[in-house]
Amino acid sequence: MNILLTGGAGYIGSHTIIELYKAGHSVVVVDNLSNSSAVSLKRVAEIIGVDGIPFYKVDVLDREALNKVFDENRFDAVIHFAGLKAVGESVAKPLEYYHNNMTGTFVLLDVMRKHGCKNIIFSSSATVYGDPAVIPITEECPKGHCTNPYGQTKSMLEEVLMDVQKADNEWNVVLLRYFNPIGAHPCGRIGENPNGIPNNLMPYITQTAVGKRQELGVFGNDYDTPDGTGVRDYIHVCDLASGHVAALQAIAKKCGVAVYNLGTGNGSSVLEVVNAFMKVNGVKVPYSIKPRRPGDIATCYCNPAKAEKELGWKAKYNLEDMCRDSWNWQSQNPNGYEE
Ligand code: NAD
Ligand code: WQD
Repeated sequence: MNILLTGGAGYIGSHTIIELYKAGHSVVVVDNLSNSSAVSLKRVAEIIGVDGIPFYKVDVLDREALNKVFDENRFDAVIHFAGLKAVGESVAKPLEYYHNNMTGTFVLLDVMRKHGCKNIIFSSSATVYGDPAVIPITEECPKGHCTNPYGQTKSMLEEVLMDVQKADNEWNVVLLRYFNPIGAHPCGRIGENPNGIPNNLMPYITQTAVGKRQELGVFGNDYDTPDGTGVRDYIHVCDLASGHVAALQAIAKKCGVAVYNLGTGNGSSVLEVVNAFMKVNGVKVPYSIKPRRPGDIATCYCNPAKAEKELGWKAKYNLEDMCRDSWNWQSQNPNGYEE
């Protein structure tokens, strides 16, 4: 298939390009580089062994520019990664988040429809479950209350996409609910490259280990979990990437709407992640216990059986692999893509 990746220069998108190529697909990337660097695409091309990745520096809000991309290419499907994703920032800048993520998707869907491309894989998130009613979380689990605008955009866009498919059954919509992606391509050339102070656990750990941050704050040790710290379903970004290749099967089978959890099914606590990181990599990560972070939940991990049963997809990497590959990337690229 020929696939358009919006947001394809970002963390998950760049890893997904590699898996798509490996499976014999071709890609075109659209990204406004608001949270990424074109260097990632250069490195992806090196990893794959091609001259370059077809790329348009285009904002999905720019209807005219997006139309031109669709005029110049024929796409079998779109994987829609483009979006702003920092939870805390979304609380401070709700309008920016709603505009970028919602309106950006509306424009994309309209342009897709006009060009007769009605297949989309959407980057959703475990955040749509809110404080989950059931653990492990299956796709049947009701959606919950999102405590921030970022999460709201994911939850509302799921509804929008389902409505679009309901109105026109030529559409095929796959909603992939990612759990917590960490890790990097094992070669260490591409990885997560957060702007400023990281919000997420693993980039904070790696930046502390590399000396850019003094110590990690562990947000709460009084949760109802085995060691009191928050439990999450961390998934290697390469596993997540191959989940998108698997999801193309659902499109090929004309799934209508299909929803999949992409996680490992294992829950790890903050302290388990920190300790695994220190052990695997032989580096110290100073930390201290801090108050709970507002909006956090105690436990979140999935039952990934549906993706295995229907798509033959299953995560292969374990927590040690994720910690090793995160460090491999960070230690070789202390300043991310700034060379
Ligand atoms: P990322 O920021 O690295 O990638 C997103 C990309 O989209 C960036 O390259 C950014 O420049 C681009 N982008 C943003 N707005 C755009 C616009 N208007 N037009 C064109 N490009 C635009 O983030 P990521 O971690 O790779 O996440 C990819 C997707 O997965 C996002 O939609 C995110 O919300 C979702 N997601 C991420 C996680 C996570 O923990 N990383 C978890 C669940 C869901
Ligand atoms: C994981 C655990 C923290 C940082 C978020 C979004 C979700 C999705 C993934 C995008 C929690 C603890 C963290 C730190 C800590 N994103 N922690 N010290 O909150 O599960 O999910 O990212 O779609 O929508 O909400 O991930 O990595 O921020 O936190 O103790 O410096 O680590 O409290 O228990 P989270 P996270």
